[in-house]
Amino acid sequence: MLIAICSLKSSPGATTLAVALGARWPGPEIPIVVEADPAGGDLLPRFRLSPDPTLVSLAASTRTRDKIDPDQLVQHTQFLPGGLRVVPGPVGAEQARAALSLLATGSSSPLRLAGDRADTAVIADCGRVDPASPSLPIIRSADAMLLVVRPHEDELARAALKLQAAQQWSPRPCLVLVGRGLSASQVLQELRVPVMAHIPHDVKGAEALCGQGNGRNGPKNSAIGRAALKLALNLHTHLNISVPQPRDPAHHLTPAGPRRDGVLS
Ligand SMILES: Nc1ncnc2c1ncn2[C@@H]1O[C@H](COP(=O)(O)OP(=O)(O)O)[C@@H](O)[C@H]1O
Ligand SMILES: [Mg+2]
Repeated sequence: MLIAICSLKSSPGATTLAVALGARWPGPEIPIVVEADPAGGDLLPRFRLSPDPTLVSLAASTRTRDKIDPDQLVQHTQFLPGGLRVVPGPVGAEQARAALSLLATGSSSPLRLAGDRADTAVIADCGRVDPASPSLPIIRSADAMLLVVRPHEDELARAALKLQAAQQWSPRPCLVLVGRGLSASQVLQELRVPVMAHIPHDVKGAEALCGQGNGRNGPKNSAIGRAALKLALNLHTHLNISVPQPRDPAHHLTPAGPRRDGVLS
């Protein structure tokens, strides 16, 4: 499964949502968050990750590899505290755009190949979307596109304008509202696009998902974390994938790698 998360304007909380979704992914798939934002990544500085591997090493590997390898994406992941696998984006926009334009498009993209595996859920944080974005091929090849918006009148007016284009890029665009403002039913009435989730305003929960705090407000305990789990379950229903049975909420935090205690526990 390949899920593209996009924003339309400013900084509504797309990266925070991508990490929350990965951290609370109910399985059975192993979640991998890929920071495919043409404006540059935030995960590297937020979690003080290693400068390598990143989206840049992933993109470089597509040049040298002559056979299609579904394990290519996982080979370029790092672990966040708590065990979530991520491919961090480079901090600089220029490097990010160059890496994204190198990443193969369509069915041979390492994101699509990994997302085709039954045991993997790729969550691509594609940043602000526009027709010239180098992450558009990822959005086009995704199984679902989540448009993250703050439910304010001005932002919804912008969303209404962009939704027509979004429907050409993805057959299944869905809105995710973040923070205070209009309700999901008011937004549905205005835009006539399904609202997949409403993520609450939760400063401490968001800080933990940005690598700050003391671990008390990690996604297992925060309002954002609970909303992200609900969103993941709704996504399974939306994509006609059988809804996973509720299990120990912590199991997905240690998908395949070493467990490390930290803010995301
Ligand atoms: N649900 C939320 N409640 C409160 N603050 C949030 C929420 N989501 C994100 N934030 C905060 O908003 C800021 C931008 O978040 P980020 O995810 O980086 O946005 P984007 O990726 O859309 O630019 C961060 O400081 C983050 O902590
Ligand atoms: Mg971001």
